[in-house]
Amino acid sequence: MTEKEQIEALRAELHQHNYNYYVLNAPVISDKEFDDKLRLLQDLEQRHPELYDANSPTMRVGSDLSKDFKQVTHKYPMLSLGNTYSESEVSDFYNRVKEWLNGEDFEICCELKFDGTSISLTYEDGKLVQAVTRGDGEKGDDVTANVKTIRSIPLVLHGNFPKSFEIRGEILMPWEVFEQLNREREAREESLFANPRNAASGTLKLQNSSIVASRKLDAYLYYLLGEELPADGHYENLQCAASWGFKVSEHMRKAHSLQEVFDFINYWDTERKNLPVATDGIVLKVNSLRQQRNLGYTAKSPRWAIAYKFQAERALTRLNKVTYQVGRTGVITPVANLDPVQLAGTVVKRASLHNADIIEGLDLHIGDMVYVEKGGEIIPKITGIDTDARGFMLGEKVRFINRCPECQTPLVRYEGEAAHYCPNETACPPQIKGKIEHFISRKAMNIDGLGPETVDLFYQQGLIHNVADLYTLRANDIAGLERMGTKTAVKIIHSIADSKEVPYERVLFALGIRFVGETAAKKLARAIPSIDELASADVEKLKNIDEIGEKIAQSIVSYFQNEANRQLVERLKTIGLQLALKEDDQASPRSNKLEGLSIVISGVFSKHSREEYKELIERHGGKNVSSISSKTSFILAGENMGPSKREKAQQLGIKLMNEDEFLTLIS
Ligand code: IVH
Repeated sequence: MTEKEQIEALRAELHQHNYNYYVLNAPVISDKEFDDKLRLLQDLEQRHPELYDANSPTMRVGSDLSKDFKQVTHKYPMLSLGNTYSESEVSDFYNRVKEWLNGEDFEICCELKFDGTSISLTYEDGKLVQAVTRGDGEKGDDVTANVKTIRSIPLVLHGNFPKSFEIRGEILMPWEVFEQLNREREAREESLFANPRNAASGTLKLQNSSIVASRKLDAYLYYLLGEELPADGHYENLQCAASWGFKVSEHMRKAHSLQEVFDFINYWDTERKNLPVATDGIVLKVNSLRQQRNLGYTAKSPRWAIAYKFQAERALTRLNKVTYQVGRTGVITPVANLDPVQLAGTVVKRASLHNADIIEGLDLHIGDMVYVEKGGEIIPKITGIDTDARGFMLGEKVRFINRCPECQTPLVRYEGEAAHYCPNETACPPQIKGKIEHFISRKAMNIDGLGPETVDLFYQQGLIHNVADLYTLRANDIAGLERMGTKTAVKIIHSIADSKEVPYERVLFALGIRFVGETAAKKLARAIPSIDELASADVEKLKNIDEIGEKIAQSIVSYFQNEANRQLVERLKTIGLQLALKEDDQASPRSNKLEGLSIVISGVFSKHSREEYKELIERHGGKNVSSISSKTSFILAGENMGPSKREKAQQLGIKLMNEDEFLTLIS
């Protein structure tokens, strides 16, 4: 083989490996083997500049995984703080500092502990040059492009700043933005963020910085590091930083006694509820940098600072009864029904009891006074019982049910699982409805115009009993039902018919086989490209597929052992759903470059058909919507776009993108 042929072969091979790794998530060689080949190619290319190729794998690395962020070693490691939970621990800290400083006077800088995700920013000559996440404290991800979209982080400084320094702080998603984002996600049937912290860190790791920009993150800076800082005081340095353009909390105070520290803590314990961002405690720092150096560090954290964590808010209320919900996969969730009680801004009436073991562990009785907490989760949970409040008469002990509350089938519990299930998959009403709701949801068949309420209505009317029945509905059957005009009815029937084009991997996910989520469905579809082969695969064969373990494999086998499921699949096949991988599905690239974007297609195109563009948008994670609204991200505009559309786009300030720009965006 000549070196030219060798270069060409390596390029082709590495392109394929890149695709396997970044797009399919299914590498077939190790990272090291890949790197070795890439290095070999680099060497060869260096010796043959005449064979330059702007698209060589040495030029471009895949870019749709968070693994893509460059790892950067922190110049100063990012340590965490020791936590304290009581006044006595705070006073221990204060007295330790006093002792170590040999009676020298000292000030304590009291600050809010912001509950977001920490970031380290490097500035050179007044310009932001790098933003790195905490990572493991030694190394973090370079998220500069994303951080640059955060408006409260200055890109260029003003005033008298040091030539080179680092500044650290917390990136936050304000409560209001968080709530709005979750409302939107709920409407799109996407999973919700549990709290603003997760939302902030999730956003910071997105690949598409224009989505990051739309998420309206905020940042407070609280720690300046460098060789030439303006003052010896931490507080004073941060005031200088504020004058260079940084957002520094206005609630920092210097305390000169333990009492002043307690006053600060007590004030913010209640007042924090009025802040626009989440806080989870107070940070106390010895103010003088000289004294900080004297005190030094333990292996994990500084001796000159400590965090005081606020008690999670909890409320005490009465347990009236326990009810049981049946989910779409048959999982039974026990729910505590409570006397309504005010907790962290909302009234709580129900709380999750998770599973039978938790109920048993709590030794719960009806009528008990229980503690409710809002942890990281959105749904509050019961964390304990006030046994002192129990009278002579103890209420009835709460015992987990044995039969499904909806269809009376005896419940089962799988080995190693905490949850109980109703095994009556095909005839238990909430499971039937839940399966249909899952089937039509955005990430599955994405059937527009249908939602849980409509499914419920169709089910109540006896029009549908399983997902295949959807395809037999006619506009006439549903027009005239509650809140259903002819126009809506026709639209629904059309979008049901359109879903016959949804690719195999999503149909597989849509079937709702227990434990087969989106990722597992993708892996399965790629490894076993038709449902017939999947139906006859045994546990061993399934377990050989990447990321498919015993549990998923068993679940698939038992799904196809069920005669009702086999019949359903046969019907779906006859109806014309994609129950095998299309040839070109295996070859064309996918990404999440358009994730979260709503795109309108308008006009006539020359390079691809409208349908092909629609497919491309979906392949790259975007959503094709039919009409322009303020939520439209951009318009893919061809020739002869209608004047009214053009005007509307202009009014709303929505960008038009031509074919070439669009193809470059997804390439
Ligand atoms: S100072 C060496 N100040 O809390 C001290 N941290 O466990 C560096 N945090 O990772 C941190 N508010 O993400 C400091 N006012 C504040 C803070 C704060 C929140 C976070 C930060 C850090 C963690 C400490």
